Amino acid sequence: MPHVKTERSADATPHAAALIEGLRDIGYSLETAIADIIDNSVTAGAHEVQIVTETNCDEPFVAIVDDGCGMTEDELVAAMRPGSKNPLASRSQPDLGRFGLGLKSASFSQCRRLTVVSRVRGKTVAAIWDLDDVAASNEWKISLPAHIDEIPGVEHLGSTGTLVLWQKLDRLSGGVVNNAQKRAEIINQRLAETERHLRLVFHRFMEATSRALRISLNGRGISPLDPFARKNAATICDPEEILGLPQGAVEIQSFTLPHHRQMSKVEWEDLGGPEGHLKSQGFYLYRGKRLILYGTWFGLSRQSELTKLSRVRIDIPNTMDGDWKIDVKKSSAQLPPLVRERLRKVIERIHEGSKRTYRRRGQKLVDQNRLPMWHRVQNDGQISYRPNLDHPVFSEFAATLPEHQRRRFFNCITLVGASLPIDTLHADMSGAAEQIAPDRLDEDTLEQAVRSTFTLLVSARKDVQEIKGLMREVDPFRSAWSDTERIISSIIEEAEDK
Ligand SMILES: Nc1ncnc2c1ncn2[C@@H]1O[C@H](COP(=O)(O)OP(=O)(O)O)[C@@H](O)[C@H]1O
Ligand SMILES: [Mg+2]
Repeated sequence: MPHVKTERSADATPHAAALIEGLRDIGYSLETAIADIIDNSVTAGAHEVQIVTETNCDEPFVAIVDDGCGMTEDELVAAMRPGSKNPLASRSQPDLGRFGLGLKSASFSQCRRLTVVSRVRGKTVAAIWDLDDVAASNEWKISLPAHIDEIPGVEHLGSTGTLVLWQKLDRLSGGVVNNAQKRAEIINQRLAETERHLRLVFHRFMEATSRALRISLNGRGISPLDPFARKNAATICDPEEILGLPQGAVEIQSFTLPHHRQMSKVEWEDLGGPEGHLKSQGFYLYRGKRLILYGTWFGLSRQSELTKLSRVRIDIPNTMDGDWKIDVKKSSAQLPPLVRERLRKVIERIHEGSKRTYRRRGQKLVDQNRLPMWHRVQNDGQISYRPNLDHPVFSEFAATLPEHQRRRFFNCITLVGASLPIDTLHADMSGAAEQIAPDRLDEDTLEQAVRSTFTLLVSARKDVQEIKGLMREVDPFRSAWSDTERIISSIIEEAEDK
């Protein structure tokens, strides 16, 4: 018999203790971890997700309870297996899952003990992964507890649904072990920061007209946060574009948020979030209506002050994960070339639009009719700003001065203009431009300005409404309009009394 060389093999089963610890560090944060758990609830058809926490106690926990379809014991055991589904198997449309890892890796990123309790048709089952047990036994074994009633949070389960319970919150407590109160503060702070992420990520599920998703945090309902402020009438929505690709259709829609003066401070800050509007502009990528990435131009443009109000919604179906290289945490993606090309065009258009808006505002500033306090002067590619020495406030006062003082007065004004702190303005503008506001004038200064401007315009035979219209458009009157109007009324009364 000829000698046949047979291929040999060797056992390469991973070390449970090492691999499961490795799952902890694939880069989840508390907000992405909780969002991943809620994804499973949404996929399970849940309408109510309760996040319940107990932090100020010896064994703090975070519980996420849904009223979805629940799992039988076999399903639960399968769900606890890392890699419980093949990511290549096509998923049904509302399915937000991906690798069959989320439940485990998201949980372990925050805790060392994961308990899942599930109820379906009145039967309740539970399973526990405890990383300390795995470390001790080095075996891929979960425990199935007998006393389910004693599991914290189980009282929140309804007739069907699932409870995901995180205990041994080593990662969440910021290393604080002995001081329960301090630990509670840290965990509560982190949970509060998570809220905004959930309001954004699931806003379209929460806004749904039928069977909307409700999410509560310790009994308090959290509201959806629409990053495009579509309820605000001043938001500009461009028409939707559809880009047909072999794997499905990509829908793209651009929005321009209203100017900060067109909404309340609360709404403006809510929309900008802790990082502010400059960092929140960009593409908002949704996969199956779930926001997976936001506040980035994918390297196609800079986040500039000019385009700060632009946000572009991109919707992709979950049949395209491979093309977009969506990662396990669903928090990063890369663009397929065709989409990249289209988005480049979208950005070009946005830039054009913003430039036009700014040009319009620029014109307003130099329009002679409107009595600007400043002139914008463009010379050899350089732009400078000069106080308008012909402004009635200046010229009228100058007329009261003797000749030699008049020149010195104009010199002073010119000096103020020439020392405009351009660098500081530039730095502030690229950070939080909306926080820069004209200085509030005291009553006396405002009155002087209103009087001279108004008198000049009246002498130019303009009518009161027209004058008001002109003045209302420019500072310092625009920023102090109610006071300005009052002063105008008293000037008119005085004139009538005479
Ligand atoms: N809240 C839940 N309700 C019902 N089934 C769930 C729930 N969470 C997880 N599962 C089941 O566990 C499986 C594994 O979940 P997970 O590890 O997040 O991976 P994936 O979501 O990628 O499938 C899911 O596919 C689902 O069948
Ligand atoms: Mg999942």
